[in-house]
Amino acid sequence: MAQRDYSTNSVGNPTASEEHSLTVGPDGPILLHDHYLIEKMAQFNRERVPERQPHAKGGGAFGHFEVTHDVSAFTKARVFQPGQRTEVLARFSTVAGERGSPDTWRDPRGFALKFYTEHGNYDMVGNNTPVFFVRDPMKFQDFIRSQKRRADNDFRDHDMQWDFWTLSPESAHQVTWLMGDRGIPKTWRHMDGYSSHTYLWMNDAGERFWVKYHFKTDQGNDFLTQEEGDRIAGIDGDYHRRDLFDAIGRGEYPTWTLHMQIMPFVEAAGYRFNPFDLTKVWPHGDYPLIPVGRLTLDRNPTDFHTEIEQAAFEPSNLVPGIGPSPDKMLLGRMFSYPDAHRYRIGANYNELPVNRPRAAEVRAYNKDGHMRHHNPGDPVYVPNSKGGPQSDTDRFGEPAGWHTDGEMMHAAYTLRPDDDDWGQAGTLVRDVLDDASRERLVNNIVGHLLKNVTEPVLTRAFEYWRNVDAALGERVENGVRGA
Ligand code: HEM
Repeated sequence: MAQRDYSTNSVGNPTASEEHSLTVGPDGPILLHDHYLIEKMAQFNRERVPERQPHAKGGGAFGHFEVTHDVSAFTKARVFQPGQRTEVLARFSTVAGERGSPDTWRDPRGFALKFYTEHGNYDMVGNNTPVFFVRDPMKFQDFIRSQKRRADNDFRDHDMQWDFWTLSPESAHQVTWLMGDRGIPKTWRHMDGYSSHTYLWMNDAGERFWVKYHFKTDQGNDFLTQEEGDRIAGIDGDYHRRDLFDAIGRGEYPTWTLHMQIMPFVEAAGYRFNPFDLTKVWPHGDYPLIPVGRLTLDRNPTDFHTEIEQAAFEPSNLVPGIGPSPDKMLLGRMFSYPDAHRYRIGANYNELPVNRPRAAEVRAYNKDGHMRHHNPGDPVYVPNSKGGPQSDTDRFGEPAGWHTDGEMMHAAYTLRPDDDDWGQAGTLVRDVLDDASRERLVNNIVGHLLKNVTEPVLTRAFEYWRNVDAALGERVENGVRGA
């Protein structure tokens, strides 16, 4: 048998025993100077970092993005130029469940990508649905709390979920997606990914375009029924995580084709509904899908903690040629994610290998702090006359932005002719779903409402679905009343 390496403590000193503590005689007390025992205990006690607030349960893999179509007329972002191939990290997740929760609970799925580009990291932190529950970041915290656990008994509670939704009619479109087949994807490989938000692209000539990202699964969209999801949840809570890991292990690399919807900058002002409202999709008839490239995942993590759990995605990681839009949710997220990471994994989270740029150098003036190990070098201040790095707007241009001016106020978006909360949800129910998926939608809603939803929330829920579609509301009410 081959000689095994000796084990060490965490500074490389050979250990005396992996099985026995240092004691006074075989039966005597343990000695405090058994520092290896103490190291083992102390490290163990510090193994967990706080889980992500939402999106705690997930998994991920590495791969690459290849540009297949020329979109240089719309963006100068290097990552989307013809011929480019960029290393990518992807993480998929559920939203409301904790780190150990089953993968097959009904929930939207996170679809987060980190592109390691030559202009630094670019993150596209989206979901498997093109819309969201609320349109103002002021409501996000309340929304997530309503989906998680009560204060008194720490139970999840459908009553509070429906209470929030029915008092927030802007949620109707996303709740229709959630209660339909997309609410439990068959696997992460069988779902699409969307930026959901509108972003701004800018080309070399400084022309700007509003855009939405659609990563269409090449495996085909597929789903689990509520019964299948429930059954699998009891057998294998890591079902989706395992599926991705095993598929990549077998060499069956999942791919997604990126398409964009692209709106010329000036068209936003006169569009019939607010194109920055995260509860709306842009009809493909108005803005067709334009192909860009292919995402392939072909490498599993080898250490889940350092490569997936410590991964820090943030919508604020943007590269020249890509900017945010006036979507208030997106602007709120620009603050929230880096703040979450500083709390969850520390001030220098961007020095962790998975978050460090891989194709770009860091020349930031930040220094020091917990767990810092990158030497920033002198000078440590700017302006300086010591040859330190400077912003280079001649080379990169001004970041993509837009003109804005007005009174400060707390207000909803200005309404446009087609801005309403129910219309697109109704179209989804009537024109996109077929009879079988409409039937499953009704059953999923009825089943959900039958779990502990009380008056007056229940009556409001019937009204909510009637507002989406009169026949649907009728069927939901009959289903619940007749149960
Ligand atoms: C995770 C905040 C809306 C997608 C998170 C996290 C926070 C957060 C704090 C945990 C981050 C971490 O600890 O690593 C917010 C706020 C929002 C918002 C304040 C609105 C104002 C959205 C929307 C989407 C989204 C609209 C999708 C379009 C995700 C994803 C993750 C995440 C995919 C998990 C990222 C990962 O895999 O690490 N969000 N979120 N969030 N959020 Fe949001």
